[in-house]
Amino acid sequence: MKTALITGANKGIGREVARQLAAKGFHVFVGARNAKAGRKAADEIAKTWGKSTFLEIDVADSGSVAKAAHEFSNIEDHLDVLVNNAGVVVDGDTAILEISDDLFRNTLETNTLGALRVTRAFVQLLRRSKAPRVINVSSGGGQLTGGADGWSPAYCISKTALNGVTVQLAAALPKFAVNSVCPGWVRTEMGGENASRSVEEGADTIVWLASESAQDLTGKFLRDRKEIPW
Ligand SMILES: NC(=O)c1ccc[n+]([C@@H]2O[C@H](COP(=O)([O-])OP(=O)(O)OC[C@H]3O[C@@H](n4cnc5c(N)ncnc54)[C@H](OP(=O)(O)O)[C@@H]3O)[C@@H](O)[C@H]2O)c1
Repeated sequence: MKTALITGANKGIGREVARQLAAKGFHVFVGARNAKAGRKAADEIAKTWGKSTFLEIDVADSGSVAKAAHEFSNIEDHLDVLVNNAGVVVDGDTAILEISDDLFRNTLETNTLGALRVTRAFVQLLRRSKAPRVINVSSGGGQLTGGADGWSPAYCISKTALNGVTVQLAAALPKFAVNSVCPGWVRTEMGGENASRSVEEGADTIVWLASESAQDLTGKFLRDRKEIPW
């Protein structure tokens, strides 16, 4: 059975990706730092959509990530798909010259280092897959092409750096497919209710990269199943 771990899967885009992959026959691991919310999401998916297991994981905490990899390996011997979806916009992320070092550090800790940390912890399990895939959920806000518009600078820089993690991992792991995705502006707690896309639309390219795209598609940044500029 194919396996997938999605971080930050207790709500929003991550939960929708987990639901869709369970429906496609994956054993999904619903990664969440909040055990109550994570267990609830995993149980709801298991009830209707397919095989789903809660995995406690705080991507900003290396001890939690190591423990999660150990727990995963007690249940499954390989990981086919890792979706580094967990992300934050830290309160106060409003103006580049006013953000504090701590705000910047906390943002990078989750959005950039978190993805690298989880990939590192699960890489041996991924190596046991016939076609390992890592999908980093990035943002158009991290694109350098076109310049910045001043919105949430620490968040945007953390996604630019996450895209750097993607290309470095793609180079280091030639048998893997490692890509960044922009889900678009999606109606979640982060995106808000005025966003233009549903969670189903936001999850689409991530699910496609997890289950359908060519294994040699790697080191790219995609939106709507198409490559976009960095
Ligand atoms: N929504 C958009 O318009 C949009 C646009 C571009 C990119 N994205 C990206 O898409 C991804 C998902 O966002 P979303 O819109 O679904 O946001 P969301 O509804 O706010 O969900 C974010 C998820 O990340 C989790 N998370 C945050 N820090 C974590 C940590 N240290 N360890 C584990 N989980 C953590 C949250 O857990 P808690 O519930 O415990 O806080 C939550 O499950 C993010 O990477 C975001 O940057 C979103």
